[in-house]
Amino acid sequence: MMDETAPALRALFGSAPWSALPLSDTGGAARVPTMLTQAEQQLYFWLARDWARGAGAIVDLGCFAGGSTARLAEGRRQAGHAAPLHAFDRFTATPRVKKRVLYPAGIPPFEGNDILPLAQHLLAPWQGQIRLHPGEIEDSLWPGAPIEILAIDAAKSTAVLDAIAEMFFPSLIPGASVVIQQDYFHWRQPWIAVQMERMADCFAPLAICPDATAVFMCIRTPDAAALARGACDRLSDADLAAGLAAARQRMAGFGQEARFDRMLAALAANPGERVSWRFIPPVADSA
Ligand SMILES: C[S@@+](CC[C@H](N)C(=O)[O-])C[C@H]1O[C@@H](n2cnc3c(N)ncnc32)[C@H](O)[C@@H]1O
Repeated sequence: MMDETAPALRALFGSAPWSALPLSDTGGAARVPTMLTQAEQQLYFWLARDWARGAGAIVDLGCFAGGSTARLAEGRRQAGHAAPLHAFDRFTATPRVKKRVLYPAGIPPFEGNDILPLAQHLLAPWQGQIRLHPGEIEDSLWPGAPIEILAIDAAKSTAVLDAIAEMFFPSLIPGASVVIQQDYFHWRQPWIAVQMERMADCFAPLAICPDATAVFMCIRTPDAAALARGACDRLSDADLAAGLAAARQRMAGFGQEARFDRMLAALAANPGERVSWRFIPPVADSA
C-alpha cells in the first residue's frame, strides 16, 4: 500500500498542512498546558482530526499534564472517530517543571509531585474517550489492539526506547499508522534516530516539525527480527554513531545537518551514557 500511496502521502505531509490551522480550532485543548511547540500542537491536532481514518487507537506515550493528549482527543472528537485514546505517563512533576511549565500556564501552585489528579481534571472535557495509564511505560501492558497514531515523548533511555518498540510497534498497521517521534532530533536522545534507521524497512520518514519532531509512516509492521535489529540498549557508541550517520543520509532532504552534528557531538561527549537526563552538553555548546 505504501508504494502506491507514498508520493501522494509525501506530498501531503511535505506541504505541512497543519501549519495553516489556527490554534483556536483546537478548542478547549488549547487551555491544557503542554511542553509541545505551537507547530507540534497543530501537527498532533491535524493528525487526529484530518489525517486519521479511525483505523485504530491513538496512543500518547508521555502525556505529562495532558497537553498532547488533549490536542489528539479534540482532533479525534471533531473527526467523529470512535477509536479509543490511551495516554501513558508516570504523572509526576518536579518542582522545577511545575515552575517552568504549569504555573506560567495558570495552574495554581500545589504541593507534591503527583500530577495525576491535575491531568484527570484538565482532560475532563474528553472524559470517556481517554484512558489514562499511570506508571512506568515499560511496566505497562498493551493488549495488541491496532494503533493508528503512536505519539512517543518518553524514550528518555535506550532501555525504555526498546521497551516501547517491543510493546507498541507490533500493533502498527502498514500503510495506515504514523509514529510521531517527538524527540527525534533532540541531542540528549540520539538513540531514537538510530532505532528508526535500523528499522528503515518498517518506517518511512514523512515530515519533520520544530522543535525536534519527526513523523514516520509504518510501511511494514515490525516483527521479532526487526525489533531485535532496532534494539539500541546493547549497542556500542560506535554502533550508535554509525546509525546516526545512516539516519543523517536518509533524512538529508529535511536539511537538519546541524541537529545530526549536535547528536553526534553529544554522543562523543557522553561515552556509554544511555539515559537522557545524565547527558552533558557537547563542548561546542559551552564555547
Ligand atoms: C516531555 S514530557 C511530555 C510532554 C507532553 N507530551 C505535553 O504535551 O506536555 C515527557 C513525559 O514523559 C514521561 N515519561 C518519561 N519516561 C517515562 C516512563 N519510562 N514511564 C512513564 N512516563 C515517562 C514523563 O513523566 C513526562 O511527563
